[in-house]
Amino acid sequence: MEKTYLMVKPDGVQRNLIGEVVARFEKKGFQLVGAKLMNIPRELAEEHYGEHKERPFFGELVDFITSGPVFAMVWQGENVITTARQMMGATNPKDAAPGTIRGDFGVNVGKNVIHGSDSPESAEREIGLFFKQEELAEYSKLINEWVY
Ligand code: TYD
Ligand code: MG
Repeated sequence: MEKTYLMVKPDGVQRNLIGEVVARFEKKGFQLVGAKLMNIPRELAEEHYGEHKERPFFGELVDFITSGPVFAMVWQGENVITTARQMMGATNPKDAAPGTIRGDFGVNVGKNVIHGSDSPESAEREIGLFFKQEELAEYSKLINEWVY
């Protein structure tokens, strides 16, 4: 089953948006397989955002993502990587469509509430950075049958 790494950023945690974000992915039909509230060590933040290390905003980005707790998650489902990116909306909230998480809640390009992996390669890399294998739950096939 396809998996992706999603994370409510410090602005989203401080604004009590964890439940709102989780609810959207649950209602869409994706399955939560891992989650934890954590403070990201600076080294991990620099590695996570390594692709941006030459960009002018890199320092601020690392300062921000380490500024308070984040809610780190792994979700699974069909096409979850691309669909989650669509549900997040454009990077800059001013360009993000209403109905998307960033369109509805994002403040500016830095404080844009949520991170999501952008490809199968980054999903695998980011899940590995933030979670150990034993921290990820497995659903049995029973999930597709009637609960009651
Ligand atoms: P990026 O990977 O381009 O966006 P996304 O989060 O949609 O995958 O950038 C990572 C984060 O860096 C982005 O969520 C917010 C921040 N950022 C800035 O602060 N300024 C910028 O100009 C850009 C492009 C990103
Ligand atoms: Mg990105």
